Amino acid sequence: MSFFSSVALAPDDPILGLTDAWLADPRSPKVNLGVGVYYDAQGRQVLPESVMRAEAILTARRRARSYIPIDGLPDYDSATRTLVFGENCRALAEDRVVTAQTLGGTGALRVGADFLKATLPAARAAISAPSWPNHKVLFRAAGFEVEDYPYYHPASHGVDFEAMRAALAAMEPGTVVLLHACCHNPTGADLSVAQWREVAQVVRERGLLPFVDMAYQGFDRGIAEDAQGIALLLEAGVENLLVANSCSKSFSLYGERIGALSLVCGSADEARRVRSQVKQTIRANYSNPPTHGAALVATILGDPDLRAQWEEEVGQMRDRIKAMRSGLVARLAALGRTEFGFINRQAGMFTYSGLSAAQVQRLREEFAIYAVSSGRICVSALNESNLDYVAEAMAKVAA
Ligand code: LMR
Repeated sequence: MSFFSSVALAPDDPILGLTDAWLADPRSPKVNLGVGVYYDAQGRQVLPESVMRAEAILTARRRARSYIPIDGLPDYDSATRTLVFGENCRALAEDRVVTAQTLGGTGALRVGADFLKATLPAARAAISAPSWPNHKVLFRAAGFEVEDYPYYHPASHGVDFEAMRAALAAMEPGTVVLLHACCHNPTGADLSVAQWREVAQVVRERGLLPFVDMAYQGFDRGIAEDAQGIALLLEAGVENLLVANSCSKSFSLYGERIGALSLVCGSADEARRVRSQVKQTIRANYSNPPTHGAALVATILGDPDLRAQWEEEVGQMRDRIKAMRSGLVARLAALGRTEFGFINRQAGMFTYSGLSAAQVQRLREEFAIYAVSSGRICVSALNESNLDYVAEAMAKVAA
């Protein structure tokens, strides 16, 4: 009798499972609009020139791969911190920010959630409706009770800001509120600067604890601009907040699993104690993080020339995504589907197309086009060779 005989079969992951299914699909043409990965105009995954140059520098250095500190490569942590909080952040100057290298943005969210559960065991977590499906999964896995707060307004394809604000204002003080810094996943509907200011005020007045997920920095307006919500929270006098950031998309380093968790603390002494606990969390999970992705990012951010090149390359990705948005809208309009104009107003890698789960299923069955069942489509997987095909299929299933 096997010890595992009662193990149930878990469902495929709603996003990563699509890539497996797409790879196994023998049909041609086939298009994977599921996972949030940036592809270039030829449909290839990108190797940014800045990353390749950093790779060459590291290879020439012939580094031995020793263990790095539990909380990560110091150069990576300090460069990332500046990327997230900006050069002139007071909390940084006051030495109140703890940054720890993590296994991607997901690792940052999980280390942060584990730390919060241990520190504030009674706190609840609140997540936008909808959100990246794994948010709920990982907060629950860390032991949190999770509630939704209203966010998306289907009729306008934008943020239902009044409902969101009211929900925040009514939350239990101490609730951990997950916010998307930019390029909201899955809706592409972001808060305006004025709305961020209002959120910051409610968060402070109500005594909520923001946990900002920034997986797409640079994909909407720019590196500093996309982090503006974080700066506004701090400017409004919010004392504590957490940020999970990721280098998967912005450096095209998906498989390196490179991200960071930052925690803004009340004082430098508090930060020292918080760091010690974050290190314990990491040590109990995977001991310490891997070297390579962190070394690449630290090399790029530490060299003015490489950094400028990287920012330019992020800008090119951003511009191509926007071109694919308008290309899709124009083709759909030419096919008589003028209702998709909102796709141009959404930000980041995704469009929340409004297609139902049944319509998404038809895309997959009839056209070998894979999208997330929520209707989320990865715009950065579109290119001149598949745009007509995708637009025609979308127009057919939407009819
Ligand atoms: C996505 O939302 O597609 C990405 O963040 C990849 C993932 O891990 O789900």
